Amino acid sequence: MKFSRSVALLAWAVPALGSTYQVKETHFVPRGWNAVGSAPEDHRIELHFALKQSRFDELEKSLYDVSSPGHPRYRQHLSQEEVHELVKPTDETLGLVEEWLGSHGVDVHGLDYTPSKDWFTVTLPVDTVERLLNTKYSVYEHEDGTQLVRTPKWSLPEHLHDHIESIQPTTSFFRPRKEGRQFKIADELASFSANAIAEAQVENPTVDTVCNATAVTPLCLRTLYGTVDYTIQAHGKNKIAINNFLNETANHSDVNIFINTYRPEAKGFNFTTFIVNHGDDQQTPDTPEQLEDGKDIEANLDAETIIGISYPTKLYTYNTAGTPPWKPSAGSDSDTNEPYALWLKYVSSQSDDVLPQTISTSYGDEEQTVPRSYAHSVCKRFAALGARGVTVLFASGDSGVGSNGTCVSNDGRNRTQFIPEFPSSCPYVTSVGGTMDFKPEVVAFNERNGYVSGGGFSNHFERPHYQEKAVKGYVEGLDGLHDGLFNKHGRAYPDLAAQGRAFAVVWNGSVHAVDGTSAATPAAAGVITLVNDALVAAGKRPLGFLNPWLYAEAHKTFTDITSGSSFGCNTSGFPAQTGWDAVTGFGTFNFEELKDLALSK
Ligand SMILES: *[C@@H]1O[C@H](CO)[C@@H](O)[C@H](O)[C@H]1NC(C)=O
Ligand SMILES: *[C@@H]1O[C@H](CO)[C@@H](O)[C@H](O)[C@H]1NC(C)=O
Ligand SMILES: *[C@@H]1O[C@H](CO)[C@@H](O)[C@H](O)[C@H]1NC(C)=O
Ligand SMILES: *[C@@H]1O[C@H](CO)[C@@H](O)[C@H](O)[C@H]1NC(C)=O
Ligand SMILES: *[C@@H]1O[C@H](CO)[C@@H](O)[C@H](O)[C@H]1NC(C)=O
Ligand SMILES: *[C@@H]1O[C@H](CO)[C@@H](O)[C@H](O)[C@H]1NC(C)=O
Ligand SMILES: *[C@@H]1O[C@H](CO)[C@@H](O)[C@H](O)[C@H]1NC(C)=O
Ligand SMILES: *[C@@H]1O[C@H](CO)[C@@H](O)[C@H](O)[C@H]1NC(C)=O
Repeated sequence: MKFSRSVALLAWAVPALGSTYQVKETHFVPRGWNAVGSAPEDHRIELHFALKQSRFDELEKSLYDVSSPGHPRYRQHLSQEEVHELVKPTDETLGLVEEWLGSHGVDVHGLDYTPSKDWFTVTLPVDTVERLLNTKYSVYEHEDGTQLVRTPKWSLPEHLHDHIESIQPTTSFFRPRKEGRQFKIADELASFSANAIAEAQVENPTVDTVCNATAVTPLCLRTLYGTVDYTIQAHGKNKIAINNFLNETANHSDVNIFINTYRPEAKGFNFTTFIVNHGDDQQTPDTPEQLEDGKDIEANLDAETIIGISYPTKLYTYNTAGTPPWKPSAGSDSDTNEPYALWLKYVSSQSDDVLPQTISTSYGDEEQTVPRSYAHSVCKRFAALGARGVTVLFASGDSGVGSNGTCVSNDGRNRTQFIPEFPSSCPYVTSVGGTMDFKPEVVAFNERNGYVSGGGFSNHFERPHYQEKAVKGYVEGLDGLHDGLFNKHGRAYPDLAAQGRAFAVVWNGSVHAVDGTSAATPAAAGVITLVNDALVAAGKRPLGFLNPWLYAEAHKTFTDITSGSSFGCNTSGFPAQTGWDAVTGFGTFNFEELKDLALSK
């Protein structure tokens, strides 16, 4: 049976396409997953193809040109059309891929392309996909009971290898998680004083009077980072967005309670939701199971934090579907867990006047569960957003250098190593670490829920030029500490930090404290949005991709965090130190100085 099928495949492949199948990608099945059977015959797979972008090198050069102060093109961001020209595949790529699919009976008119045609999706029966990719899918089950249909290896006709970057779901076992941890709070916090906050608003707030480490509020963040006296001027033009994955949705009722309590002048403010691929926008009370899961804590945290800082700047939420678990027994016919692909497809289609200038994402996963080709495909699409002038922020993770007992390589060798996170490890995004306390701020952690602000070095991406000097200096300063546990030549993160511990969040009608780089990331996004507001109001272009400017000069305006460490993997992790470090980056914001520097460009 097997034999006759591969004969049939060859009979098709050779004459029609002129080349034989070669393995395109193998990926070790991550620990915790086991094959439990073959894919059901009636299973259908929504396949996402990333095609080779014809002029990515030019796109990357443009990204760096428009993001590097001193370059003649600094902040001359590309239009959507210009970016599409650079990322669209060649006619040859499109022709060969469609010819191959057509020869397998796939209706090429049914391919769902992005406007720039560098991604497309198509839903096919599993046996067709197995023939196309000369592979065999299985049902894999995680120790936690989650099931996925995946394969550790797939192939393509040789002549397509340079035209197709990645195809998923094949080898990808990643499961983005929320970088936030709620912890049970003392009862008094619930009443933590709306009154005190309201009173403090009318006086001259200082960090001493408005910041309390048991409940970090917008007034505290605005006072600490110096935005409290800033008046928004360009909120009609300047926009900010958050990403909601995993069915997270910001609850309007909770957000309103938060606003009335912590930012009363924002009363009546509302945000706009883009539903991507039938994403969730539940506004009815959570079910008992959803309450148990803490559904919407993350989305509420993100929206509330941003409104608290950047009100009345327009806020968008992207609610993108595409999550496991896939339950074969439930008769579900598709298990997509490709939220980035779906979201990138959506956002890259948004026109220049809709696209937000800042996007905050509080999700990530172990880099080693994300196949290299897929990580590169996604990372390149973040570069395209940066080239269009978007600051793309990701949380650096909540497990230090890796959770104790999980620090094993997924390369067949089971080496002990630190566990970097994706997408923070992508060099075209800005990664945000977490701090706590105020005078001084130190690396955030919480023994009660195992939270430690994350940081590290990529195994998928090389160190980009812009951070060469800062990171080299840091690695040399480590003087051999943790040698062999991390890739000294990898893209290092985070790039900067913000408060990330015990944020006051309204959820399920009452105040809760939430920890995480999930809190730090929207806080950082809120401050950056105000810098963009000042730029746009002055008739200038927004910051866009932050890192080249940050590492070249903007870091001088940051408060250096020098105390604490990203412990994990049974080690002390990376220490915070003078200058850049792999746990707080360059540190935290001084808004006035950063804004003035930005305006001087
Ligand atoms: C911080 O808030 C807690 C809880 O309301 C309170 O007990 C404590 O006294 C406050 N600390 C300061 C320094 O105000
Ligand atoms: C998302 O919602 C869908 C539909 O209610 C449900 O089947 C799925 O399990 C949910 N996923 C997560 C991660 O909560
Ligand atoms: C905010 O927008 C949502 C969705 O458009 C709507 O249901 C809700 O009533 C609005 N809330 C306020 C306070 O305007
Ligand atoms: C780390 O500590 C955990 C719990 O104490 C232990 O199970 C594990 O073997 C340790 N791992 C290493 C690499 O030392
Ligand atoms: C690595 O660990 C996995 C799962 O624990 C095990 O199946 C495999 O045999 C190990 N490989 C090596 C080379 O030790
Ligand atoms: C959610 O709110 C309801 C109603 O106030 C309350 O009974 C319940 O205990 C709350 N659940 C959680 C997990 O906070
Ligand atoms: C969401 O909003 C509804 C009212 O629209 C409220 O009854 C419910 O408790 C909220 N859910 C959560 C989880 O906060
Ligand atoms: C991880 O291990 C370190 C050192 O062995 C220990 O100090 C720390 O408490 C552990 N963390 C957790 C969350 O168990």
